[in-house]
Amino acid sequence: MYKLTQNKKDQYLSELTDFLKIPSVSADPKYKKDVEKAAVWLANSIKLAGCENIEIIPTNGHPIVYGEKIINSKFPTILVYGHYDVQPPDPIDLWENPPFDPIVKETETHPAGAIFARGSCDDKGQMFMHVKALELMISNKELPCNVKFMIEGEEEVGSDNLEIFIRENSERLKSDVILISDTGILNNNQPSITTGLRGLSYMEVKVTGPNRDLHSGLYGGTVANPINVLCDMISSLKDDKSKINIPGFYDDVVELSDKERIEMSKVPFDEESFKKSLNIDFTYGELGFSTPERKSIRPTLDVNGIWGGYTGEGAKTVIPSDAYAKISMRLVPNQNWEKISVLFENHFKKIAPPSVKVKVTTHHGGQAYVTPINNIAYKAAHMAYEKSFGKAPYPVRDGGSIPIVPMFEEVLKCKTILMGFGLNSDAIHSPNEHFGLFNFFKGIETIPYFYKNFAELFEKSKS
Ligand code: BES
Ligand code: MN
Ligand code: MN
Repeated sequence: MYKLTQNKKDQYLSELTDFLKIPSVSADPKYKKDVEKAAVWLANSIKLAGCENIEIIPTNGHPIVYGEKIINSKFPTILVYGHYDVQPPDPIDLWENPPFDPIVKETETHPAGAIFARGSCDDKGQMFMHVKALELMISNKELPCNVKFMIEGEEEVGSDNLEIFIRENSERLKSDVILISDTGILNNNQPSITTGLRGLSYMEVKVTGPNRDLHSGLYGGTVANPINVLCDMISSLKDDKSKINIPGFYDDVVELSDKERIEMSKVPFDEESFKKSLNIDFTYGELGFSTPERKSIRPTLDVNGIWGGYTGEGAKTVIPSDAYAKISMRLVPNQNWEKISVLFENHFKKIAPPSVKVKVTTHHGGQAYVTPINNIAYKAAHMAYEKSFGKAPYPVRDGGSIPIVPMFEEVLKCKTILMGFGLNSDAIHSPNEHFGLFNFFKGIETIPYFYKNFAELFEKSKS
């Protein structure tokens, strides 16, 4: 239907490059103006694509960009969601090229080139595919659905304000399906559709010992060292089978049937190249589960950061007054993140030895999501990938989280289709994040198939 000419490809890539130059880091207040600049840039590009009723909606945090193209009340309505905010670029030193100065380079996985910049894959590049696909359909007068675009600037910090917005605007956002490109495919020869996301519960802990940092010679051996205590506490959170030791943690976990696990094991996965890509000799995780299972259908607990004491140049002999850690738990369907956070807090306080005081804070979280594959939206996506890749996609449950997705279902009563085009190796959230040009253009070509299939199946389902 749409085969992009070299001219178009050049034009889209140069527009994406401009967009990626804006450092829209949502977590760090020093980028607030840049986040706003990205919202304005995006609103303008949605307008140029042919959207109407464009709005930059202020929130208590970063703005939401909204626009729509309503052409016929008989057509189904697609709500496109994405995010224009990006993760902080740190550690900056590890970028081969500055994170907000995009550059195209060839890589082993992307022989046709990839664009390197923070946000290239997550999610500016993937979200921008929808803007361009819509522009193509409108300019060719081939748009078969009504469209609402809702792009937020706070996904990477928990989407709290978007939640408020959708609760207050559920009527205006009414649609027949939600379409998101913020996940990935197995590889460029084998597409997949994300049918599940994990939930998340993000905690911070502080362990306090003596009232000040102490000379480790004068006091060492006489008082509990908060860092040692924190390490002991953390290591007790998992047993030797990598099961999580928090009482009640697994109570609500839905176990997959043998049949479902056999189905899952048919999805191609190469353990050797997985290890090679990470330069590790062994994988590690919950006993009794495969690597693909460990990263999708099983909950986990991981320390994301740990600090305290002296970490500067050289050596300083000190027993620190306190120690900190940030700990995340990835959750699976039916586990409630708020309940898990409480279980964690209670347990962590309970296991603290009397020699220290413990403080536990809950950061953001979100519920897990699974989507059925027997509906017209999934079929439309399946057919779209099959058409543009020449190969049927596998349904695959993913390990990451998009907390607003289960909220869409709860508030808007609407299913989400996760039509991603990134690769796990694209280094999202890491230094040298990139997005394959093949993937970027393929995404733009695949999306219109989805619209067409969905409109046709929707029409049929009515008769
Ligand atoms: N797009 C990612 C999530 C993702 C990536 C899901 C690849 C599946 C495959 C999203 O931007 C993200 O990073 N989410 C965060 C959660 C958020 C609350 C910070 C995550 O998963 O850590
Ligand atoms: Mn994302
Ligand atoms: Mn992200």
